Amino acid sequence: MPIVQAEALTKRIIALFQACGVPAAEGQVVAEHLVDAEACGVVSHGVLRVPQYVEAIVEGRVRPGAVLRTVSETASTAVLDGQSGFGQVMAGQAMELAVEKANHTGVGVVTLANCGHTGRLGYYTEWATRQGMAGLMMVNSGGGGQWVAPFGGTAGRLATNPLSLAVPTASGDPLVLDMATSVAPEGKVRALLTAGSLMPIGWVMDHAGRPTTNPADLYGPPRGALLPFGGHKGFGLSMLVDALAGGLSGAGCCGDTQAPLQGRTDGVLLLALDIRAFCPVALFQEMTSQLVQHVKSAPPGKEVAEVLVPGEWEARQRTLRAREGIPVEDVTWAILEQTARQRGVGWDGSTP
Ligand SMILES: NC(=O)c1ccc[n+]([C@@H]2O[C@H](COP(=O)([O-])OP(=O)(O)OC[C@H]3O[C@@H](n4cnc5c(N)ncnc54)[C@H](O)[C@@H]3O)[C@@H](O)[C@H]2O)c1
Repeated sequence: MPIVQAEALTKRIIALFQACGVPAAEGQVVAEHLVDAEACGVVSHGVLRVPQYVEAIVEGRVRPGAVLRTVSETASTAVLDGQSGFGQVMAGQAMELAVEKANHTGVGVVTLANCGHTGRLGYYTEWATRQGMAGLMMVNSGGGGQWVAPFGGTAGRLATNPLSLAVPTASGDPLVLDMATSVAPEGKVRALLTAGSLMPIGWVMDHAGRPTTNPADLYGPPRGALLPFGGHKGFGLSMLVDALAGGLSGAGCCGDTQAPLQGRTDGVLLLALDIRAFCPVALFQEMTSQLVQHVKSAPPGKEVAEVLVPGEWEARQRTLRAREGIPVEDVTWAILEQTARQRGVGWDGSTP
């Protein structure tokens, strides 16, 4: 398995995107996001997404160089149109705007539609905490991507509708909850399928509603479905994410059983809360750090070495991989090499 430094991997991806007509600065935003996800161990939202993004450019679903458009705005809110730009580029700018508004009014709420896949949500909410904010992000697939069955149902009716919430702590490591509202995101099933591995039981049911460990059963035909996490609770949360992210952004909610599985757009809701508007930042950070220490003081069960808090596993992976490099699955590496070749460049950015 190739082990690469983040900077070298980022450069390769920028070169590949440039071969698809993506301006270097834009390619850098997307590449850094994907490589950071890979560094955090969130492989499902890492570099294996590059071929999917290249395909979206080739098919005209993502337009490099698109400019974010403001549809409507107040002092604390904005409705944005990504004009078919990269999800990472548009959502990054949208979160910047939410933070800017929160700096003025105490709260910034921004919605975004008409953009590509937004990737790993924790990237944006963590960034908001670095600006002294609490951050929230919800995403739907604009009515598409219906991989997830409702609680009690056996066919996909909802997208994986992820949610992230993050707050700063005194230690500098924010608390970052970042999760799909399905047991696993579709990308994790895809990663296992690509690697030829089996899934844990409880992630997916096949087309007849039977539990399965074969990732191929999700895709069919006939198609199976992912399960919502936590039964009726995760299902309920997923519906509300769909309503808020899809409804408020104008991207649209699920409603058409024939909607494309490859979501046409992500629908995004972003919230930045300026902690200073509620209490002194130092006091808040002190409390959240105390909360972390308190929770981690619980004796660990037999199966685990220690209690971890949201975002801790990813932060540790990031530190480890900054030191030792990022391992990229052989099969992913081969697909990236092939994608680069198809776009007329070497995977090291050279002209073949
Ligand atoms: N943009 C999109 O359309 C989209 C859609 C779905 C998912 N996603 C992304 O997929 C990624 C993976 O989602 P997921 O649901 O598989 O996340 P996950 O199950 O790996 O992690 C969920 C949360 O649990 C925490 N966690 C993990 N292990 C823990 C432990 N042992 N103890 C305590 N906390 C722990 C993590 O820090 C994280 O905050 C996320 O980054 C999400 O944003 C994106």
